[in-house]
Amino acid sequence: MRRAVYPGSFDPVTLGHLDIIRRSAALVDELIVAVLVNRAKTPLFSEEERVKMLMEVTKDVPNVRVEAFTGLSVDFVKKCEAKFIVRGLRAITDFEYELQMAQTNRIMAPGIDTIFLTTNLEYAYLSSTTVKEVAFYHGDISHFVPESVAEKIYEKVQMREKCHEQQN
Ligand code: PNS
Repeated sequence: MRRAVYPGSFDPVTLGHLDIIRRSAALVDELIVAVLVNRAKTPLFSEEERVKMLMEVTKDVPNVRVEAFTGLSVDFVKKCEAKFIVRGLRAITDFEYELQMAQTNRIMAPGIDTIFLTTNLEYAYLSSTTVKEVAFYHGDISHFVPESVAEKIYEKVQMREKCHEQQN
């Protein structure tokens, strides 16, 4: 069984992520999309929400499984009995960080290789952070995330605005 893990924050999943998921799932028997639970960061979406959104948008890809994990990616990859880590490379700006991460992971786990897929040019500029920023200013995010995810982001924005109104 050729199994790979695609780890990330996915806060939230974008069309760029989805493109990497579809293309890498076509290369392996099973792709596990692994949502990092990072206690040091405060994500917009909880771990459960991120997993649920990913499950929803990948439901038509039969060999994709979505799971949450804590700790080191390589430990999770070993636990899954996978041999590959998948990462998307958008631009040269991603390269240094990704190379550092891949090399560190390779030293910690020599049996695990990182596979990089270049992001579709259409999504080369895209990040979860910019999507959230656009949504906070009520911009149109329909070109950046699946429709179901856009709805969830706008719900969060509304909730935040209500909270702020109540505080003031
Ligand atoms: O979507 P992101 O935030 O770019 O994903 C980064 C991620 C989750 C792949 C990376 O931060 C990670 O693997 N974190 C888990 C901790 C870990 O394994 N660190 C060692 C890598 S140097």
